[in-house]
Amino acid sequence: MTGASSGIGWALAKGLSAAGARIVVVARRSERLELLVREIEESGGAAIAAKADVTEIDSVEQAFDEAEAAFGTVDIAICNAGISGVSNFLKTDAAERDAVFDTNLRGVWNVGQSAARRMVAAGVPGSIINVASVLGLGAQPGVASYCASKGAVIQLTRSMALDLTRYGIRVNAVAPGWFKTEINDDYFASEAGKEYIQRMPSRRLGQLDELVGPVVLLASEAGSFMNGSVVVVDGALNTLVA
Ligand code: NAI
Repeated sequence: MTGASSGIGWALAKGLSAAGARIVVVARRSERLELLVREIEESGGAAIAAKADVTEIDSVEQAFDEAEAAFGTVDIAICNAGISGVSNFLKTDAAERDAVFDTNLRGVWNVGQSAARRMVAAGVPGSIINVASVLGLGAQPGVASYCASKGAVIQLTRSMALDLTRYGIRVNAVAPGWFKTEINDDYFASEAGKEYIQRMPSRRLGQLDELVGPVVLLASEAGSFMNGSVVVVDGALNTLVA
């Protein structure tokens, strides 16, 4: 589980643990990861922390080595780490664009490819879940790099599904609508953010626990014929035309 030190990744790690998975929590902030490991263990689950930067392939491989040493071949990989990129297309500089692409697309690629190669080498079937966004399906003004990165994650998911199905590896994406986390905390606390929530069909943000069920479905045998799909969890946000 990448990006487990906060927000969606934190909630999914706890939810998957409650569903019976042994969890390797991955991110760059070790102290936060150790805290999460303790919470999971106190709830009767099994977890280890592996510090890694998803944009660095050596760091990703090291995390998988640590995961394998603890629990054997990873058979569920959740590529969740991501950052926001909030600026108008005209104003987005190359450094901001590259940072968003590096984390949101290259990071998913690195983790998904490493997971898949190891599953194939071990002859282990598995499930890879990429966390995209409703902004990979539709667009909003002022978030060009983020939208492009998440659209690419959805297409990568479909390509991975086609290339990996022969090995018994399913690859699906989850496309969340808005859930309050560190990635958007400031915006949803602002007047503009509060007004935006009132224009959403659901008139509320998602609760992090509301992502757990869909991810457990994709991770488990309950979703055994789901492959290459994009599961939207957004309170109908993406269906809105204006
Ligand atoms: P967050 O900021 O709370 O969590 C992001 C996580 O990714 C953190 O643990 C962070 O440390 C980690 N991370 C960032 N760069 C990393 C790197 N290079 N290497 C390793 N870990 C790294 O934000 P949130 O909301 O939990 O985001 C999780 C995913 O969900 C992201 O991919 C985001 O784009 C996606 N998402 C979030 C939505 C929301 O409303 N919160 C909506 C749609 C998608």
